[in-house]
Amino acid sequence: MLNMFVRDCWYVAAWSHEVAGDSLLARTVLGEPICLFRRADGTIAAMADRCAHRGAPLSRGRREGDAIRCLYHGMKFDADGVCIEVPGQDRIPPRACVRRYAAVERNNWIWIWMGDAATADPAAIPDTWSLGRADWPYRPGYHLFAAPHMLICDNLLDFSHIGYVHASTLGGTESIALSKPKVSREESWVRVERWLIDDVPAPFHTRVASFPGRVDRWHFYDFHVPGVLVMHSGVQATGTGAPRGVIKDALEFRSCQAVTPETGTSAHYFYAVPRNFAVDDQTITDSVFNDIVVAFEEDRAMIEAQARNLRMTPDWPMVPIAADAALAQFRRLMSERLAADNAVQTVLE
Ligand code: FES
Ligand SMILES: [Fe+2]
Repeated sequence: MLNMFVRDCWYVAAWSHEVAGDSLLARTVLGEPICLFRRADGTIAAMADRCAHRGAPLSRGRREGDAIRCLYHGMKFDADGVCIEVPGQDRIPPRACVRRYAAVERNNWIWIWMGDAATADPAAIPDTWSLGRADWPYRPGYHLFAAPHMLICDNLLDFSHIGYVHASTLGGTESIALSKPKVSREESWVRVERWLIDDVPAPFHTRVASFPGRVDRWHFYDFHVPGVLVMHSGVQATGTGAPRGVIKDALEFRSCQAVTPETGTSAHYFYAVPRNFAVDDQTITDSVFNDIVVAFEEDRAMIEAQARNLRMTPDWPMVPIAADAALAQFRRLMSERLAADNAVQTVLE
């Protein structure tokens, strides 16, 4: 059966704090139930959340050291998903294994490789360094969207919506839609660079700092397969050199956001907006976080409504406009990756 998702890539499955102590976290990724937990040495294990016996969720089971005992009929599996005990019998059926996934924890995100674990290369994980640094504080965010993951990727690849969807939070000006970003494509990501020169600060900027007048704003980001945004954005008084690389009294942010399909019609959205000013001021951390939560709720309302429409009218055409440049490039990149994945699979079948 051909895949509808790219499998040979790293997806964000959880925030580190969600997999704590002896807990078993149930999370659906690409329509597959997965159980995540932390071994005694602190590393992350990921396996199918479906007992090899009769399919009960292992996340409803019990930790016994680094193993899990299914609490339906008691079979026990090691952290690689291999059955090591069947109550009432000595022989363990050789096929009594659950699938193991490669998982890596990095900078407070837990990444999972949905393809063959033997081919997983952690070097391919996008660099989200700002999530792991005490001098870039943030509060971790998460939303579940009732919409296909690609519609959220589309949204993140086209910031022209900021002036409309987020007028009172991230936007403040419709001129974002008038400014043309520079869009380029690399092997596994699309790069978007956008300047707003001599404009107004966003409402969320003015809640955490005051500016003497107008400002320059920038959004530079790489959007990686399969839906990971790594951004440098900022705001600085206009005429003080930001476009020439002179960063002075700026507010700088290094946002990381990841969209992971839960199913074909729902998606996990992990996000954070680390900043490097007033790093000890929790009120500012809270203020930035609260604005972002409101903004992403604004996105959610719009995208879920869009998804409902598209479900009802899948054959009605869409009309492309210039603002779609980055999302069109990313969709092409994803289609190529999906075709490559499926070609490999077809050869192996
Ligand atoms: S379903 Fe797990 S032991 Fe029976
Ligand atoms: Fe948005």
